[in-house]
Amino acid sequence: MSGPGLSSNGRGHEDESAPTGGVRAWVNGERVDPAAPSIAALDHGVTVGDGVFETCKVVDNVPFALARHLARMDRSLAGLGLPTADREVIEAGIRSVMAGEPIASGLLRCTVTAGAGPLGSDRLDSPLTYIVTAGPQRLNPDTAKLVVVPWPRNERGATAGLKTTSYAENVLALAFARGRGGVEALFANTAGNLCEGTGSNVFVVLDDEILTPDLASGPLAGVTRELVIQWCRHEGITVRAEPLPMSILQRAAEVFITSSTKDVMAVHAIDDRQVAAPGPVTARAAEIFSRLSSERLDP
Ligand SMILES: Cc1ncc(COP(=O)(O)O)c(C=O)c1O
Repeated sequence: MSGPGLSSNGRGHEDESAPTGGVRAWVNGERVDPAAPSIAALDHGVTVGDGVFETCKVVDNVPFALARHLARMDRSLAGLGLPTADREVIEAGIRSVMAGEPIASGLLRCTVTAGAGPLGSDRLDSPLTYIVTAGPQRLNPDTAKLVVVPWPRNERGATAGLKTTSYAENVLALAFARGRGGVEALFANTAGNLCEGTGSNVFVVLDDEILTPDLASGPLAGVTRELVIQWCRHEGITVRAEPLPMSILQRAAEVFITSSTKDVMAVHAIDDRQVAAPGPVTARAAEIFSRLSSERLDP
């Protein structure tokens, strides 16, 4: 599908040694040094993770599917009971970080937090904090090993389906997967059904059909997930979103994950089980996504 070490989308930028290298940051109306302090110590996003965020890929200096990401950010804020974000403020931040040297292949992240708070979980009625950053995308592997983690995703929790800044559970799960040679971790939900990864949605292929957990199973409504479902159906592939037992991972002919940073990424192993990667259906889904996403930058 692509050269050694490059993902199926051929994007990527090797900059492992300098995680803040090339990152531009904007906070509450001003461009700031991304490595210097710019957020109040009492910001509720910092003290208790009371905030939401979105990450979109940037191709040729254009953020992909920005309208869908900003709409999801509105849903996440509403889900947290926070005020609606000021779109003009966010757009000013985006314009600021996208100005200058064009970003050929990168990531744009918008974060909105509850603003100044007390030290505990109570909220003050503070103005929201706005943070926008953009920078180069790191290199993706061609295919992924997934590692199932022992902790469930709570599909009935208050923040299920919201993209909040409380990501410590994902940090822990990803570290668990990395320690076992994985690229991504995989969560079951509390019912023991397949849910999602730490930053990606999961799909399996069985009898030439694509299956993915429904939203009631607790995954984030991934922008890439939605587009893959829509576009693959449009091209004649059967795609079903429904509760899936974890045992489906033992029977699936193919598995792939999707996200804004990974697009469609074939999976070559789930724990000790090897699977063909990319299998034919995954390769087709990746081709459909790559073709249609390059034709429609704001689908
Ligand atoms: C928990 C979680 N699930 C799934 C996804 C994939 O969503 P998207 O395709 O919108 O990037 C993400 C992406 O950030 C995520 O954080």
